[in-house]
Amino acid sequence: MPRLELADGLALFYHDEGAGEPLVLIHGFPLSSEMYQPQRAALSSNFRVITPDLRGMGRSDTSGGALSMATYADDIIALLDQLGIGQAVVGGMSMGGYVVFELLRRHPERVKGVILIDTRAEADSEEARANRLRMIEQARSQGAAAIAEAMLPRLLSERTRQEQPALARFVYEIMAATPVEGIIAALQAMAARRDATDLLPRITVPTLIIVGSEDQVTPPSVAQAMQQAIPDAELVIVEGAAHAANLERPDEVNQVLRRWLQRFG
Ligand code: MLT
Repeated sequence: MPRLELADGLALFYHDEGAGEPLVLIHGFPLSSEMYQPQRAALSSNFRVITPDLRGMGRSDTSGGALSMATYADDIIALLDQLGIGQAVVGGMSMGGYVVFELLRRHPERVKGVILIDTRAEADSEEARANRLRMIEQARSQGAAAIAEAMLPRLLSERTRQEQPALARFVYEIMAATPVEGIIAALQAMAARRDATDLLPRITVPTLIIVGSEDQVTPPSVAQAMQQAIPDAELVIVEGAAHAANLERPDEVNQVLRRWLQRFG
């Protein structure tokens, strides 16, 4: 797995597979680039699929301090710079979507198209922030495995967990392997993130929104509101999937992505 040395000396690991129009896919919390295995396999025959491990997650180094969505977004720009890529289609699942919004705010000229998977534009509510604080305490006292236990039923529907135990194990293991420091930094960054709803009417590039019909974290109603606010947005609801639609229904999601991405390749 190649790595980039960031300006502050930390290593950022990433996959870079295939050739063609660049497509960057940013993972959710507390996951890693491995959550895009099905998309790398399906799309790298036509696209250059780049999937980084955000700092503090996967194999990438932890900063050891507070992080913001801006830092994660700037890391993606550093990666594009290193790879000599001017513009890319940029997608993100859940927290990855929060990073995409920050990219659109800070570096819109680098974004050629947007893919929003199971995510939302709104900032955290007071209740959501209080939950983050509780989760930070839980991560500190009980470690990453407890966070993985708590997150699994949010990510995968009950049916997926029953019918695809190997997938459930795979997702659990990614989360349980995330360094506690990275988990805490991401929770703090998500709690402090800005509301991005003001950006939605200003997104001028083609946008694809994907959401699982059973997503309780960022439900279809949230995705529908984003679609209405973004000028050129298509919405696809994936039946039977929860919050990790690309993993629960990979064939369906890959088919949608292939069709939508044709305009770029
Ligand atoms: C994620 O899947 O990235 C998280 O559930 C996002 C969040 O907690 O807001």
